[in-house]
Amino acid sequence: MQPSYHRIVLWLTLGWGAGPGFAASAQTNTAPADPPATPVLEINAGKVTGLASPTLYGMMTEEINYSYEGGLYGELLRNRTFKAGATNALYWNPVGGGALSLDYDQPLNAALNVSLKLDATSATPDAPAGFANAGYWGIPIRPNTLYRASFYARTDGKFAGPLTVALVSAPDGLPHGEVRPASAEVSQLTAEWKKYEVTLTTGDAPASKNASFRITTDQPGTIWFSQVSLFPPTYDNRPNGNRPDLMELMADMNPQFLRFPGGNYLEGNEIANRFDWKKTIGDTAERPGHRNDGWGYWSTDGLGLLEFLEWCEDLRMQPVLAVYAGYSMHQRHVTPGDDLDPYVQDALDEIEYVTGPTTSSWGARRAKDGHPDPFPLNYVEIGNEDWFDQSNTYDARFTQFFKAIKAQYPKLQCISTIGSTEPKAKRVHTVQPDLLDDHFYRTQQEMRLHAHDYDSYDRHGPKIFVGEWATRVGSPTPNLAGALGDAAWMTGLERNSDLVLISSYAPLFVNVSDLASGRTRGGSMQWPTDLIGYDAFTSYGSPAYYAQKMFSNNHGDQILATDSQGIPVESWQPPVRRSRNPNPATATNNAAAGTNSTPAALPPKQSLPTLFFDATRDSHDGILYLKIVNIRSHSQRVHVIIDGAKQVNHEGEIITLTSANPDDTNSIKNPQKVVPRTALLNDLGRDFTPTLEPNSINILKIHTVL
Ligand code: AHR
Repeated sequence: MQPSYHRIVLWLTLGWGAGPGFAASAQTNTAPADPPATPVLEINAGKVTGLASPTLYGMMTEEINYSYEGGLYGELLRNRTFKAGATNALYWNPVGGGALSLDYDQPLNAALNVSLKLDATSATPDAPAGFANAGYWGIPIRPNTLYRASFYARTDGKFAGPLTVALVSAPDGLPHGEVRPASAEVSQLTAEWKKYEVTLTTGDAPASKNASFRITTDQPGTIWFSQVSLFPPTYDNRPNGNRPDLMELMADMNPQFLRFPGGNYLEGNEIANRFDWKKTIGDTAERPGHRNDGWGYWSTDGLGLLEFLEWCEDLRMQPVLAVYAGYSMHQRHVTPGDDLDPYVQDALDEIEYVTGPTTSSWGARRAKDGHPDPFPLNYVEIGNEDWFDQSNTYDARFTQFFKAIKAQYPKLQCISTIGSTEPKAKRVHTVQPDLLDDHFYRTQQEMRLHAHDYDSYDRHGPKIFVGEWATRVGSPTPNLAGALGDAAWMTGLERNSDLVLISSYAPLFVNVSDLASGRTRGGSMQWPTDLIGYDAFTSYGSPAYYAQKMFSNNHGDQILATDSQGIPVESWQPPVRRSRNPNPATATNNAAAGTNSTPAALPPKQSLPTLFFDATRDSHDGILYLKIVNIRSHSQRVHVIIDGAKQVNHEGEIITLTSANPDDTNSIKNPQKVVPRTALLNDLGRDFTPTLEPNSINILKIHTVL
C-alpha cells in the first residue's frame, strides 16, 4: 500500500508563510511568494494513493452514562434484581402499608442471591399494599402499546394472591388519583419460587415519560420477589432486546463494526468487577450482574455477550471483541505466566463462543443460548488502555494472549491497546501486534492541529485502530464546534484509511435525564461529551452524530491524491497541559502516582488551518466524494481543480451540516436544530469555485469518468 499523499501550502492570516509547528505533521511545500486569494484544492481522480478501508467507520460502546441500563437495553425497571445496594432495595418504594426489605435467606438461586421481601400483612381491599419502581428517570408509556411484565415470586404458604401488576401514570406509584393505564392480576401463588408473566396494554392512555410500575395486593400476606422486569416493544421484537429509537439512530450511521464491551467497563477498577463474560450469558435470571465500579453503578448484565453479538447482527456490523487481559484500573494486574493462563483460556473460550461450530463446546453453549449460527470475527482487542498499567507487564501479557490466540485462530487480527503515540519502549515489542489502538480526546484546536498526523505515518508497521476519539466541545452532547473538529479529524482518518482500518467515536451514548447530580452522586452522565443523547422517552443525535453519519454514508473505495495552495490558517496558543489523562475513572489513580501534577511550560504557538479536505472515489460508479470542512465564521470560496478525469459531470450534489453559530446544538427539546441538508449543484466541472458556508461540513458528490 502506498503512503497517503496530501500536500498542503499554508496561508497565514496573520502574515505569509507556512505555519510553525504544522509543517512537522504534514508534507508542506515552501510558501508561495504570492498566495492565491482563493485557496486551491486539487484532486487527481486518476491517482489512487491507497484503498479506503471499507470498515473505517464503526462504533465503540460500554456501560457508561447509563448506556444499556436506562439506555439501549429494553428493561424499564431500575434495580430489577435488588442487587444495586447491599442493604436497601434501591429504587423500589413501598406503596400503602407495604414494608420492604432485602432478604438474603430466600434467594431465587446462587446468582440472584437476594430477594425483595414484601410484608403486606396490613393490606385490605381499602388499603392495598405493595411496591413501585419509577424506572430510570421515569417509565415511558405510549398509547396502544403492549408491555411485558415478569417476576419470580414465592409466598409464606398462606398468601395465594391475587397480586395486581400495573403501569400507573403517577411517577411515584402512589395512589393519589392517578389514571391506571394498564393492569393485570396474578393469583395462585405458592410457597415455591415460580415465574409469572403478564402483558399490560395501555389502550388510549396518553403518552408519558413519568409513569411507574406497581405490584400491590389487597389481601394480607408476605411475598418474596426476584427479577421483577418490564419490557416495552423492542427493536425487531427481540426478546430481551433493545430500544428501537436508539437502534434506528445507529443504523442510520451505517456503522461497520462495534467495539465492545469497553473501555473501562471491560477492566473494572478491581479484577472482580471486570466484564466476566461467562457470567453474562444464558437465562437472565441466572446472571449475577456486577458492580460497574469504573462508572459507579450496578449492571444486571441483561445486555451480555450474546446480546452484544445480536446487536451487531441486527445492524450488520462485525464485532471488535475486547477480551479482558489481566489489568484492572486500580493498578491491579495478573502476573504473566501461570497466573494469567486462566484468563487466556477465558479469552479462547470467548472466541469459541462467538465463532465456534455447534460441535465445539462453547459453540454448543451459544446454540443452547439460542444462536446456533456463529458470528463473524476478524478483530480481537487485548485489554483496554494498558498504558495506564504501572507494572509494565503489558508486553508479556499481550504476548501470552497473542501466541495462544494465533495458535488457534491464525487469521484473527490482534489489537494492542498501547497505541502509536506511546513511547516505543512502552509499546508491545516481543511480538508485532496487527493493529495499535490510539485514543484521542481533544479540543477542536487539537483536532485541527493533529488532523494530518497519520499522513506521514510509517506504513510498514502495525495498522491503526483509532478506537476512541472525540472533540470534547459541548455537553452532554457535542455542539457544531465539536462536529467541525470531528470532521476536520475525519478527513485525516479517511485520507489515511489504507493505514487506519477502523475508527470509532466515544462515548456513544448518554442518558441526559439527570445532569445536575453529577457523575458520582447518582447523575445520569459520567462523561461529558457523548454522541447520542436520550431520556426515558426520546433520543437525538448531536451535530457530531450527523457528521459521522455523513462521512460514513458517503465515501469511495479509493483514496485520491490531493494537493492544495493557500490554505488559510490562524494562530493558536495551546494552553498549559497538566495531564494527558482525561479519564475521570483513572485520573485520581494517576494523580496518586504523581503523573498528573507536574506543571508544564507554556507550549509554543501553533498555526491552525481553517480548511480541511480529502477525496475518495467509488471505482464502481465513478462518484468522487470531496469532503471540505470550513472552520471559519465567514463563508469561504475555494477553487477546486479535478485532474485525471476524462469527464466531470456538471450536475452533482452537496450535503452540508452547518448552523448560525458554532455553539448551536441538538437536544431532547430541539433534536433537529443542526442537521444536514442536501442540495443539487449544477456548475461543477474540472475547475469550479464553490462558496462554502461559515462553520460548515460539506460533502460534494461529483460524477467522474476516467
Ligand atoms: O470513553 C470513556 C473512557 O475513556 C473509556 O472507558 C476509556 O477506555 C477511556 O479512557
